[in-house]
Amino acid sequence: MSKAVKRLLFVCLGNICRSPAAEGVMQHLVNQRGLGNQIHIDSAGTSSYHIGEPADKRMRQAAEKRGYDLTSRSRMVSRRDGDEFDLIIAMDSTNLRTLSGMLVNSHAQIKLLSEYLSNDWPTEVPDPYYGGDEGFNEVLDMLEAACPNILAELQNDD
Ligand code: 4NP
Repeated sequence: MSKAVKRLLFVCLGNICRSPAAEGVMQHLVNQRGLGNQIHIDSAGTSSYHIGEPADKRMRQAAEKRGYDLTSRSRMVSRRDGDEFDLIIAMDSTNLRTLSGMLVNSHAQIKLLSEYLSNDWPTEVPDPYYGGDEGFNEVLDMLEAACPNILAELQNDD
């Protein structure tokens, strides 16, 4: 890996369920591999609905059962993020469209999380907010499968 710190931003709608979980899963993996000072991870939402709030309690509990501590507070994605991050990963195609419209000509590459998953996974990380507990676990399953592939790409990308 090159010496420069890589900056990675996960984005969903509310920044209280999917993207904080992505941040937590990725941070755990990066810490486990001793890469904490080489990769900076953050998350944000495309909406203002939950600004300042911690991650949804149901998401925090599901994540904690797997050993992830979700500490983020919701913030809204901004144009500046397009220049401050190298890679921005959207949880679903609606988030991707919002980001693509907002971050025209930005430094960051913008991708969909499912680009890091094999074809037998869904193409969208389903929004778990209005559903049952299994939705939160499905999100975590997808994130645990995708994060090693995201990390591998960052490590190969000089
Ligand atoms: P997230 O989930 O985008 O994964 O954080 C949602 C959280 C809140 C709402 C929708 C999705 N909401 O409509 O308030």
